[in-house]
Amino acid sequence: MLEITVYLIDGSKQKITGKAGQTLRQVLLENDITPYTKMTTQLNCGGRGVCATCGVWIISGQAKSTHWHDRLADKYSYPRLSCQINLEEDLTVRLPHKWIWGSREAHQMKRAKKNE
Ligand code: FES
Repeated sequence: MLEITVYLIDGSKQKITGKAGQTLRQVLLENDITPYTKMTTQLNCGGRGVCATCGVWIISGQAKSTHWHDRLADKYSYPRLSCQINLEEDLTVRLPHKWIWGSREAHQMKRAKKNE
């Protein structure tokens, strides 16, 4: 099992586990952590690497860039697509703030209230 540390928007962190070969997006969603905003939860490409709505910042650990978007992300320093990261080792990631396609903060607050 690989350990993924996720820094959430509120600054808290959550440790989750995944298997080598799983995508980071898959592991996040399995653990009820969304890389999406309110709108992109419904309007995303399902992990095909097309919509660019599943970004995360890599804080530590290696995640090879095989997708054209991620090669540009490495070069120009913007978030990586979680659906294109195949887990190979422990990672630490941070969810970015988002203000378009429905804010992430409002969406996460609703998810938290739903789980109460
Ligand atoms: S889910 Fe669409 S690019 Fe990742």
